[in-house]
Amino acid sequence: MTRFDLTLNVGVDQTALSQGLKLPVKIDFGSVPHLLIAAPSGSGKTYLLTYLLAQLAKKPGRVLLADFKGIDFIELDGCTDYYRHTAVGNALNIAFDTLQERMHNPSPDSPPLFFVVDEWAGFLSLYPKKEQEELKQKMSALLMLGRGVGVFVIMALQRADANYITGRDNFGNALGLGRLSAESVRMMFPDDSDIIQPKSRGHGYLRTDGKALREIVVPQLRDIARAKRTILEKLGG
Ligand SMILES: Nc1ncnc2c1ncn2[C@@H]1O[C@H](COP(=O)(O)OP(=O)(O)OP(=O)(O)O)[C@@H](O)[C@H]1O
Ligand SMILES: [Mg+2]
Repeated sequence: MTRFDLTLNVGVDQTALSQGLKLPVKIDFGSVPHLLIAAPSGSGKTYLLTYLLAQLAKKPGRVLLADFKGIDFIELDGCTDYYRHTAVGNALNIAFDTLQERMHNPSPDSPPLFFVVDEWAGFLSLYPKKEQEELKQKMSALLMLGRGVGVFVIMALQRADANYITGRDNFGNALGLGRLSAESVRMMFPDDSDIIQPKSRGHGYLRTDGKALREIVVPQLRDIARAKRTILEKLGG
């Protein structure tokens, strides 16, 4: 058991909101680890990541931000724990090495490590099949074993696709925004695929293992520049 706070707000409950009530929807990585975010281009993945990173920045622990596109978070360039383009692989290796090290020397005092990766599929597509498999295996190990040693993954991609994720069953939380492809729906919401509707930007569904599916809305950020400054400090800027 960890003594660290591992909860994050991912949005507000759409059903409550339609009745005028702002009910935050939280996920607790301590009980249900890792988060997969899938949404077509322009549906709000990077925006949601900014919201999550700003929260992580205020908590203990280390955050590695792996940004394949390297555009939306460009102001973080130069931060120790900001990894863009092919350097996404460096962040993956740090997370994987931390996992292995902690498995050899487990301690309840290890602060959490969050590996946050935007456009994982884009990153993988740079590599030939054999290297992709190695990268996916490392990710799979993080997903399977991370929780026990305080290592967590937050991954965003455009489509949830079996070509990019092998340990998909280990994403305890899956969040889909906008108009999801049929394949994303099948992979992320296998038990609820018949009720998933196309949504607008920033709107979607959250599956948390062991809980009922929830409709959520990602809130508008009051001050993005401030959020980014907080993130910059956290990442060693
Ligand atoms: N919840 C939201 N509330 C208000 N504006 C939002 C919200 N989500 C996204 N936006 C705005 O919509 C635009 C697209 O969002 P974002 O860049 O996060 O999409 P994306 O899914 O990351 O797209 P891509 O796949 O192209 O990277 C941005 O200008 C962002 O500011
Ligand atoms: Mg994006």
